[in-house]
Amino acid sequence: MTKTFLPFTRREFLRNSGLLVAGLAASQSNPHKTGVVGRSLLDLNSVPQFADPLPTPPVLKPSGTRPHPDNPKSSIPFYRVPAQQFETKFHRDLKPTRIWGYAKSSPGPTFDVRSGEPILVEWVNALPKSHFLPIDHTIHGADSAKPDVRIVTHLHGGKVPPKSDGYPDDWYPSGKSATYFYPNQQDSSTLWYHDHALGITRLNVYAGLFGSYFLRDKFEDGLNLPRGKYEIPLILCDRFFDRDAQLFYPVSPDEKSPWIPDFFANAMIVNGKLFPFLDVEPRKYRFRMLNASNGRLFHLSFSNKQEFLQIGTDLGFLPAAVSVKLLALAPGERADFILDFTDHAGEQITLSSDSLIAMQFRVSQTKVSDSSSLPSTLRSIDRTPESAAVNTRILTLGEKDDMAGNPQTMLLNNAHWDMPVTENPKLDSVEIWSLLNFTDDTHPIHLHGVRFQVLDRRNFEPEYYYKGGQIKYIGPTNPPPANELGWKDTVQAHGGTVTRIITKFEGYPGRYVWHCHLLEHEDNEMMRPYDILSP
Ligand code: C2O
Ligand code: CU
Ligand code: CU
Repeated sequence: MTKTFLPFTRREFLRNSGLLVAGLAASQSNPHKTGVVGRSLLDLNSVPQFADPLPTPPVLKPSGTRPHPDNPKSSIPFYRVPAQQFETKFHRDLKPTRIWGYAKSSPGPTFDVRSGEPILVEWVNALPKSHFLPIDHTIHGADSAKPDVRIVTHLHGGKVPPKSDGYPDDWYPSGKSATYFYPNQQDSSTLWYHDHALGITRLNVYAGLFGSYFLRDKFEDGLNLPRGKYEIPLILCDRFFDRDAQLFYPVSPDEKSPWIPDFFANAMIVNGKLFPFLDVEPRKYRFRMLNASNGRLFHLSFSNKQEFLQIGTDLGFLPAAVSVKLLALAPGERADFILDFTDHAGEQITLSSDSLIAMQFRVSQTKVSDSSSLPSTLRSIDRTPESAAVNTRILTLGEKDDMAGNPQTMLLNNAHWDMPVTENPKLDSVEIWSLLNFTDDTHPIHLHGVRFQVLDRRNFEPEYYYKGGQIKYIGPTNPPPANELGWKDTVQAHGGTVTRIITKFEGYPGRYVWHCHLLEHEDNEMMRPYDILSP
């Protein structure tokens, strides 16, 4: 097996392999033979903006109680959530689109649960037997001997025992289900759930299998933040639609291996709608935002230059609110923020990511009273000192030139998914993971089961490391920005940069995964098993 790193840029790869770069102009004028690709794209200019009100996913209700798995004398809430295929209208003027979702909703219904109150969830695979998106049978775990339709649900950010974590190999076919135990022994935070089946996660999530999971605690109750109808999930993702308003998933020109390394789609979807609007009052609102895209990094801003008052990161509150003009959110990351419309009565404000319009806020004229508040300090967070770490791991994010020449594969530490475990921290030990990114792209790196803090980022010389295996830094050490000073489970590891995180491996011993949250990468080797060892 050759193990060479190549300097890699997504754009170069796409250009060289004849794939589209921005939008799908290339494939529209040069459609491939496959059915899906042959259909051309919906012209978004023909779709009126801000025609549909922003929907909010329904809040899930338990379907009863079941005995606590470790303590059968007590009973805990039980939820039954079927993954199903159905049709939905992404826009008033578009035909219904076939999608997959949980409990006939995409985004799936929101869990609103309390810290310290465990629940059981039966995730039912009630999907049809065939997939409507292009499976690549050459990818790990997706060989044609496997059923096309497989699911396994992961609670992203959850401190969950391994057998309930949604390990990528723990998938099951349609007609089957799995019941998972979520202890909810962690702080108030914006978790989310999504499919994690080996080799087809990107397709299952693109089809619509994701939703929010809000975990609340007493600390949050005491904050007097906007709540009820003034607290709104914003689940954003990008999608392509064909002219029949059906989901379009881009493929490579190689019919046997349709996988592509990643893509940016041209339509932004918020809570399941294209170009929605939200009527708001001139007061404060709290938004719980998630980037559920396969591969698009968001750079979000408002047309009126209004600031996001960010109060939380992936796994809980920041020490204090941070005002952010341009919010960078990678796939898998969450941001909890306040928007204050008090001084914007009568305005229409657009939220965009780069040049993609996401949605519009329409602020009413009527003066209202707002009894919510934004405290000057939120949750204090002890920074984990570097001296607490018993181990530092150097872990590379790179790209391997496969012998056939293409498609190229992104790898963690030069290792494939099915190679033996190399990361094996002890339960309750603290480690520093230094992520050396040899590519030009940002890879959002996610660890299951734990929370971490970002230590710093610093540029380094890849060539020097190839030659001698030593890190040669260039330039200054950059501490994390203020809105990264909270608990994280996904970190943006930028190209040519060493990103250091510090983690205490609390929770449960057993097997988890860590991976890039660009789903195309995760599905094709940029994911590794890791073990938390019993001490
Ligand atoms: Cu959000 Cu391993 O996933
Ligand atoms: Cu996760
Ligand atoms: Cu990646």
